[in-house]
Amino acid sequence: MDDTIDESYSYKFDLTPELLLKVIFEYTAKIANEKRLDSILVLMANMGREMVVADRCTVWLIDALRNELFTVVAHGVQEIRVPYGSGLVGTAISTGQPIFIDDAYEDSRHNQESDKKTGYRTKSIMTIPFRNNQGEVIGAYQAINKLTEKQIFSTQDMEYLSLAASYSGKSLESFMLNEEIVETQKEIILAMGKIGEGRSKETGNHVKRVAQYSYILALGMGMSETEADMLRSASPMHDIGKVAIPDSVLNKPGKLTEDEFEQMKHHADIGYHLLRNSKRQLLQAAAIVAWQHHEKWDGSGYPRGLKGEAIHVYGRITALADVFDALGSSRVYKAAWELDRILGLIKEERGRHFDPQVVDVFFKELPAILEVRAHEADIAE
Ligand code: C2E
Ligand code: SIN
Ligand code: SIN
Ligand code: FE
Ligand code: FE
Repeated sequence: MDDTIDESYSYKFDLTPELLLKVIFEYTAKIANEKRLDSILVLMANMGREMVVADRCTVWLIDALRNELFTVVAHGVQEIRVPYGSGLVGTAISTGQPIFIDDAYEDSRHNQESDKKTGYRTKSIMTIPFRNNQGEVIGAYQAINKLTEKQIFSTQDMEYLSLAASYSGKSLESFMLNEEIVETQKEIILAMGKIGEGRSKETGNHVKRVAQYSYILALGMGMSETEADMLRSASPMHDIGKVAIPDSVLNKPGKLTEDEFEQMKHHADIGYHLLRNSKRQLLQAAAIVAWQHHEKWDGSGYPRGLKGEAIHVYGRITALADVFDALGSSRVYKAAWELDRILGLIKEERGRHFDPQVVDVFFKELPAILEVRAHEADIAE
């Protein structure tokens, strides 16, 4: 009864990118530690609700035996069952397409029966199907009543909930297998790296290439296959802190002023703070990379001016991988460099910007590195 949205309702705000990441990492860490399916589903619904600032969020699953859809979790609502294919959720699941509704009472697909019983006023709805590892639709997320002033869900909400949904679909299938959850976390990391990257208009395959270069360099530095693989998964997060940098700075078409560059430099600290609270090894590695990828061997880097081996080897490796790739890519503020010029700079910076040993590994592994570069080239360039 108190659930009704009335005129005196105080609106909420969409999450900032920092808060969004915080929500994702808090929940994925919790979900990874949960052994029970119903608890996982509760966490998923809560994560979805927070991510898109909805009043309620429901996770619907298909009960194939009874040919029904049922909600396992519904905020303030008991379990509901509907025939397969019926209603909005049924439509989203059978077509595999998301559905947005701004006002449910003006849409014939919405069934007002349950509102009539409960007195709840359903207004905006966003329904997003999710899939298992084989790509089959196994359920849907449904968010109800956007709590911001606009009161309707946006395509950004869809992106966010899709991210939660893709995680749900996969975790649901394999919730007991910790290994799978680690795999899924890797995908989330890549997806979040891309959202940050998309905002900064950086080239599409940058994070993938940095990941592969880091892997090659890590093996060359004598790391085990397992650890090198972990660094490969963590390195796409190096610039995640850029999500908190204002667009005017991030996408400035020209050279940054001193002030702007000072702002930009915060991306390293911000990334670290976003990631450091997770106990998962993978995210801890990502936190180190985010924090230290702009440190320089001679101590002239940022944010802390660490020197030599005081810089974690993950930071020393990703520093080279990132600069090698950034120089070869066009940015809003600069054109891509020729390969010879890039290699020249790396030689010159041996023992200054870069760890000499990492530079030596880089030149030893150059053929493999150039192969990745050719293979993951940006099509638009
Ligand atoms: P980014 O563009 O991905 O560059 C990553 C790193 O590659 C840079 O870290 C720098 O070490 C190296 N790098 C990239 N382009 C060049 C270049 O033309 N010359 C040289 N010598 N090195 C280059 P840095 O400098 O700490 O910058 C961090 C991030 O700050 C950059 O990431 C970019 O997003 C932003 N940024 C830096 N300078 C500018 C600028 O003049 N304008 C704009 N709009 N953004 C900038
Ligand atoms: C449906 O999606 O059709 C059932 C739930 C609802 O309408 O709120
Ligand atoms: C990037 O190319 O994504 C950013 C480079 C950096 O600042 O590390
Ligand atoms: Fe960076
Ligand atoms: Fe980068």
